[in-house]
Amino acid sequence: MSDHPTLAAASEWTYEPFTLGGRFRVAPRGALGASDGRLDLVVARGAFGSGEHETTASCVEVLEGLADVRGARVLDLGAGTGILGIAALALGAAHAVLVDNDPQAVLVARRHVALNGMSDRATVVLGEIGDAPGPPFDIVLANLHGDVLVALGPALVARVRPGGVLVLSGILWEHNWDVRDAYGRLGCTLGENRFLSEYSSLLMRLPVSHAETCGPTDPPSLRLDTDGAPLITTEARAGDPA
Ligand SMILES: C[S@@+](CC[C@H](N)C(=O)[O-])C[C@H]1O[C@@H](n2cnc3c(N)ncnc32)[C@H](O)[C@@H]1O
Repeated sequence: MSDHPTLAAASEWTYEPFTLGGRFRVAPRGALGASDGRLDLVVARGAFGSGEHETTASCVEVLEGLADVRGARVLDLGAGTGILGIAALALGAAHAVLVDNDPQAVLVARRHVALNGMSDRATVVLGEIGDAPGPPFDIVLANLHGDVLVALGPALVARVRPGGVLVLSGILWEHNWDVRDAYGRLGCTLGENRFLSEYSSLLMRLPVSHAETCGPTDPPSLRLDTDGAPLITTEARAGDPA
C-alpha cells in the first residue's frame, strides 16, 4: 500500500465517527466516547483498511460472531492499518501478531496499536507469513486477494491450531469457489460464506482431529442475503460448490 496516512495530516483525524460491525465505532483521536456503548477503534481515516471497505467490515462482523475470541492468540496477516488485529484485541484476544509486507503499513499499524493502548498485547512485524512469530494461532485474519489466499493456503493453515479458525476476505465473487476449494483440500471446513457487493468473506475451520475431516458433513443450506446473494450459514464442506 503506498497511500497509507502519515497520521500527521489533520484531515485524517477530523472525520465523523462511524459504526463498524455490531460492536465497534471507528473514531478519530480525541473523540468523545460512544454513547451507545460501542467500543472505539482509534484509526486515521483515508487509507484502505480504516474500516470503510466492505471486506474489512465483513471480517469484523465474522470476528464478532466467534465464540472464542476472549483469550485467543490472533494473527492478522496483511494488517494494513492494523484495524482487524486491534478489533480482536478489543474483543478480549490475549495477543495479536500483525504482519504486513509494506513497511509503511507496519509503521501505521504500530502507531494505531499504540494509540489504542494495546502495545503490550501486540507484535507488529514487517514481512510475510513466515515471519510471524509464535505458536499456532487460534484465529487467523487475512483480508488479501483471493489468489494470494490460495497461494498462501498451506503456510496459513500450518499456523492455525487444531480447532482454530481462519477469517478470509478480499475474495472477489468469481474467486470464492477457488478459495473454498483450496482450503477444503487443506482439511478446512466451511463455517460461513458471505457474499458482499463485490467481494466475499469466508470463515474456515480446522478440524480438532483428523477423524473430523473424514466424517460425514451436513450439506450446506443456502439462503439469500438482503441483496439476493447466496449466503451459506451451516458447516458445509469447503469444496462443495455453492
Ligand atoms: C486489503 S489490505 C487489508 C488491510 C486490513 N487488514 C483490512 O482488513 O482492512 C491488504 C494488506 O495486505 C498487505 N499484504 C499483501 N500481500 C501480503 C503478504 N503476502 N504478506 C503480508 N502482507 C501482505 C498489503 O500491504 C496491505 O496492507
